[in-house]
Amino acid sequence: MNAYFEDAEAVVRLLSGYLARKRLNPAFRWVKYTESPENDAWMLAMLDLGRVQNLAAYRSQELMTDLRAVAKGRPVYWLEDGAYAVLLSPVRKLPKMVVFPGTKRGVVRIGMRKRGELALSWASLGHVMVAGMTGVGKSVFLRSLAYQMVQDGGQIMAADIDKVTLPMFEAHPALFAPIAETEVAAGALLERALGECEHRSNLFKGMEGYPETLEEYNKAAIRLGEATLAPILVMLDEFSATVEALGGARGNFASNAAQLGWRGRKFGLRVVYAAQDFSKETVGKIRDQVKTVVAFKVRSQETARAVGVEKAYHLPADHPGMASTNLYGYVQAYYLDKALITNESGLALPNLLSEAEEELFARAWSGDRKLSRARLIEWGGMSEWTARSTLAEWANRGWVEKDGGQTNSFCVTQKIGDLLSKSPTAPTGSNWSPSTPSGSPTGSKWSPSLSKWSPSTPSGSPSEFSGREE
Ligand SMILES: Nc1ncnc2c1ncn2[C@@H]1O[C@H](COP(=O)(O)OP(=O)(O)OP(=O)(O)O)[C@@H](O)[C@H]1O
Ligand SMILES: [Mg+2]
Repeated sequence: MNAYFEDAEAVVRLLSGYLARKRLNPAFRWVKYTESPENDAWMLAMLDLGRVQNLAAYRSQELMTDLRAVAKGRPVYWLEDGAYAVLLSPVRKLPKMVVFPGTKRGVVRIGMRKRGELALSWASLGHVMVAGMTGVGKSVFLRSLAYQMVQDGGQIMAADIDKVTLPMFEAHPALFAPIAETEVAAGALLERALGECEHRSNLFKGMEGYPETLEEYNKAAIRLGEATLAPILVMLDEFSATVEALGGARGNFASNAAQLGWRGRKFGLRVVYAAQDFSKETVGKIRDQVKTVVAFKVRSQETARAVGVEKAYHLPADHPGMASTNLYGYVQAYYLDKALITNESGLALPNLLSEAEEELFARAWSGDRKLSRARLIEWGGMSEWTARSTLAEWANRGWVEKDGGQTNSFCVTQKIGDLLSKSPTAPTGSNWSPSTPSGSPTGSKWSPSLSKWSPSTPSGSPSEFSGREE
């Protein structure tokens, strides 16, 4: 604590001296030393606005550059209310590698910035453009997005021409369609995704209350006891090469890709456009659809400009995972080991089921396989509402299916039976204790299924956009 307090005094003397030499009045109303919650030490010096003239001269680009030199290389910032901020503690460096820390439902964890994690709601993430020359971490990043989407109950559509990015998802139950491994197949995949938009559009039209988002649709579906729709992540790796192979920026594929962007949003389809290089023309087609740009080191200034992240050209080539973004500055993307995704069978993701879910499924599976609303209330301590939405969500994932003609009654599917038989931790019927463990507040492990898809954090809000970037 206060390790840099004396530096603050020295720095303000240096700044004052320099301002005076520049014939600017070093009149400060106050000078403060402060430490941020992340333990960065700052000196803040507020100009006395009543005594300084020509404020513009105090903040010119040239003067700011000089002040940084005067402050012995410490970063100097101008704050809009008329103050200088000088970082006294060392500039933090992005770490070389940060291992993916595990999923959080409803949140996409991107990686670490200098001062904390970059994590967004799916809604804030929007459609994504990913650029980067070979070997800089695009595939690892795509894999992490796919993994998080699946863990969050969503589905995957993917074009993976190289066949190296997502082989572990081959035959995975969360795959909406087989992985496209040729350009032509990628074209067909896009058609299929647009077809799904069409299908969902019809479902939306038939739903009461005229839903305008997947979230609204699902809310209504749950109210009516109908199946909900899962979000789908559509990943187009090698996007530029595929555009070239299928008619160029004016061709059908590029048009469909753009169309999927604007149609898909309403129906819960999120698109990731990834490539080593992007031409101006290709970006022109999709630019308006993309919300988040994650640019790893790119080979050419043209690509950096085209994707709107010029800094991506200047990133080090020997720092895989390091990226510059359009909205959030630099980030070290999480490293997600392939082994985390695959297991021996290649079919199931570990932790696909929460512990509570696994317990309930195992209990039903070892008995008559039925999971009614009443059982969820009794066995799982859920509220009526949670039980209903949970069943709808499970039905949507193919984990339970309607039991004959009874509306409130479902039974566990074979798919879950298979999962349970592979799970090392699944409790068997014999060691199940029938009562809800005491001390766990009712419903505490059950978040209502829809809350995950609500755009909880508006983009640019302080919680996900704190700290500054140089
Ligand atoms: N986030 C990361 N953190 C640390 N190392 C990483 C990260 N991402 C990738 N790497 C390292 O870089 C290697 C290449 O990454 P990746 O396969 O994702 O590259 P790529 O951009 O997809 O390349 P290509 O265009 O050739 O497909 C990885 O095998 C890994 O060793
Ligand atoms: Mg790759």
